[in-house]
Amino acid sequence: MTAPDALAEFQPLRDRLARVPSLDAPALAAERIAVLGRKGGELTRLLKSVATLDDAGKRRVGAAVNELKRAFESAFAEREAALDRERQAREAAGTDLTMPGRGRWIGAAHPVTRVIDEIVGLFRELGFTVAGGPEAETEWYNFGALNFPADHPAMDLHDTLYLDLPPVPGDRGGRLLMRTHTSPVQIRTLLEAGAPARVVIPGLAYRNDPFDASHAPAFTQLEGLAVDEGVSFVDLKATLSHFARRFFAPGTRVRFRPSFFPFTEPSAEMDVGCQLCGGSGCAACKGSGWMEILGCGMVHPNVLESCGVDAERFTGFAFGMGPHRIAMLRYGIPDIRLLYEGDMRFLRQLAGPGQ
Ligand code: PHE
Repeated sequence: MTAPDALAEFQPLRDRLARVPSLDAPALAAERIAVLGRKGGELTRLLKSVATLDDAGKRRVGAAVNELKRAFESAFAEREAALDRERQAREAAGTDLTMPGRGRWIGAAHPVTRVIDEIVGLFRELGFTVAGGPEAETEWYNFGALNFPADHPAMDLHDTLYLDLPPVPGDRGGRLLMRTHTSPVQIRTLLEAGAPARVVIPGLAYRNDPFDASHAPAFTQLEGLAVDEGVSFVDLKATLSHFARRFFAPGTRVRFRPSFFPFTEPSAEMDVGCQLCGGSGCAACKGSGWMEILGCGMVHPNVLESCGVDAERFTGFAFGMGPHRIAMLRYGIPDIRLLYEGDMRFLRQLAGPGQ
């Protein structure tokens, strides 16, 4: 190769040098290897060819190649620094520490769910476990086994949501309906596990009721059942009074009024001192100072016998309350529909601390 040949190869390299400032990071890294790489780099190759020139050519071309090499080295370094600065500026823009934070949405349990969880928790402490059963029941579980007489008005079409399905044959069958209370799970529990039994049964119940300020056709119930040898009305009163004082407030007053349910005898309603006025009388307690919170009683011997439990040996108590109603009493909610609508403006006011 002659000296002019070697110099002729410089022009394309000078063009590439001119383009270095516009290369992006990957192209820059590739170009550095293509030009300066020890093996196969364009300039390395040119430098090697200098050795084939005569002395004058070596000096001329060698000096020019070295100059070009330095020019590439500084062009690469400059471009690299510029890309670095660009990257730093981009990162700084992405973390503006003065920008206001984004609000984060943290979910919370619905007030009725919280009431149920709390009540179940209190009864768990007393050794109760949780039981459940189907919401579509037969007449036998919902009424018959619970000692309802065959003509009881609760069985009317007006009160009960019957399912348009063929009746279930057998004495545990009858028409299918949406259970009107959680009490059929008492029957299922005793039939399955027998006595002794101690369960709480949270669940949905259905009645052919209008959807108004104090009724909903689907609502929650929380049932309790304790069957053992020697269980008496004293146990019922002690257990439910303890519950009321744990759930509401330590000094909460309770009273039991005689009542009637086909599946308990004797039966009672339990009231607690009004949580809103403290007993002096207000709109929520209609001036009485008391709020009714549950129905209860000693399990009727006929119920025990329907489940094959020896009513001479075992006695028990049962109770049933409505968590929707208890949430209304506790939080002073005037209209049950607020608990079904899912309006966040309402629910946020009842969300617990930190929610
Ligand atoms: N099942 C009754 C109701 O729905 C409540 C209740 C349960 C009463 C258990 C006494 C014992 O009204």
